[in-house]
Amino acid sequence: MWVCLFHSASDAHLTCVCMFLFTDVYVTCVFSEDCVMPCSFMPGSEEVIHWLKPVADLTVHSYYYSTDQLQQQSLHYRRRTALFNDQIHKGNASLLLNAITLQDQGRYKCYTSTVKGNKESFINISVEAPVHLVNIQLSDDIITCSSKDIYPEPKLTWSTNLPSDMPLDPGTIQTSTKVDDRGLYDITSTKQFSRDRTNICTVTSGTRGETGTLRQQDPVQCSPSSEVSIPCRIPQSDLLTFNLTWRFNQIVNILTATYTKGTPQMYINDQWKEQVQDMSESGSLQLHRLTVIHQGSYSCELYTSRDTHLFLTYLEITPDKLSAGTIVAVVFVVTIAAVATAAGVYMYLKKRGREDTLEGEGISDNEVNHLNKPLNKRGEERKTEGQQVAQGDAVTENGE
Ligand SMILES: *[C@@H]1O[C@H](CO)[C@@H](O)[C@H](O)[C@H]1NC(C)=O
Ligand SMILES: *[C@@H]1O[C@H](CO)[C@@H](O)[C@H](O)[C@H]1NC(C)=O
Ligand SMILES: *[C@@H]1O[C@H](CO)[C@@H](O)[C@H](O)[C@H]1NC(C)=O
Repeated sequence: MWVCLFHSASDAHLTCVCMFLFTDVYVTCVFSEDCVMPCSFMPGSEEVIHWLKPVADLTVHSYYYSTDQLQQQSLHYRRRTALFNDQIHKGNASLLLNAITLQDQGRYKCYTSTVKGNKESFINISVEAPVHLVNIQLSDDIITCSSKDIYPEPKLTWSTNLPSDMPLDPGTIQTSTKVDDRGLYDITSTKQFSRDRTNICTVTSGTRGETGTLRQQDPVQCSPSSEVSIPCRIPQSDLLTFNLTWRFNQIVNILTATYTKGTPQMYINDQWKEQVQDMSESGSLQLHRLTVIHQGSYSCELYTSRDTHLFLTYLEITPDKLSAGTIVAVVFVVTIAAVATAAGVYMYLKKRGREDTLEGEGISDNEVNHLNKPLNKRGEERKTEGQQVAQGDAVTENGE
């Protein structure tokens, strides 16, 4: 097949480089996005352009008499095509196709004709729906990795941060793929969680791939009255633009931050406004005013254009049974109180013994009154003691 490529040196001078090509022009379009199918011809008046899909016998777009001619256009391309009208006189017959679907794949013919002659060229379109998000979750020690809306058929592999780890026994992994009515693949895989490792799931399709990582961090403890910081690890490299989400028990959204060139824009869920104090530069979540209902798993999820990172931390809220220092202090106070009480009881009994002795000498004539006094009438009690002291003095005086 002969193909001519035009090089426009200036409007007045055009050079034509002709060569024999065995191959079509290959273009990869992205699913659901717009795509330009390239085509060019030697400029000349009375342009005729036909875009066709010969295998399926479809008319994609036609142009003649200086205008689009869409009477014959196939239904599949209705309202999805456009030529670059201001470029046609320069020999540009490229076609813009909107909202690419998998049915758009295949070989297209671009036929052009002017007063100077005609030309056919072929463009082979392939469509990709790249992996754009790897979702990773942990439940009952089973880790699930999934990704949706992928084309061509994806592959999923598991690994850890330790390259020396043996490849996982395939028997412990369960992977399944599904195709939806648009022809896109969903892939899901589960395996046993490796507690002391970073669990890495890689989903690839075509030449591109994304990873999801999950790591369980050491548990954090705090009391309801204290502040606590739950760590996250924003990796340093290529991460100026990314999203971060903190979740409770992997479901409830606490906050979302969108980082653009390193500057965060933060949205806190209304139900957590009371508890969220701040988020540090490293992404760590600072909480306060917690109650036992806030005990659970906190996940920091980082979404970059290429990877998903999930850090899980269990927060244990321990009311009153606080730090070792506090326990020592509490034990100390309780001991002091016990000693003081014992001393008080001892003093009382001693005094009481002395009182009984005095009463036994028949000096007090209000013994019945004393026994009838309610215990909580401390003033009365003291007055009685005072009287008894006075009486005691009297006894001493009497004794002299
Ligand atoms: C035709 O014009 C469009 C829009 O300006 C441009 O994107 C495309 O590269 C051009 N194609 C050729 C073959 O010059
Ligand atoms: C289009 O190109 C793909 C490779 O990208 C190839 O598999 C396919 O057969 C080509 N289709 C046609 C109709 O040439
Ligand atoms: C971050 O979130 C915004 C808004 O939800 C979204 O448009 C964008 O694609 C996200 N960026 C990344 C890297 O996930």
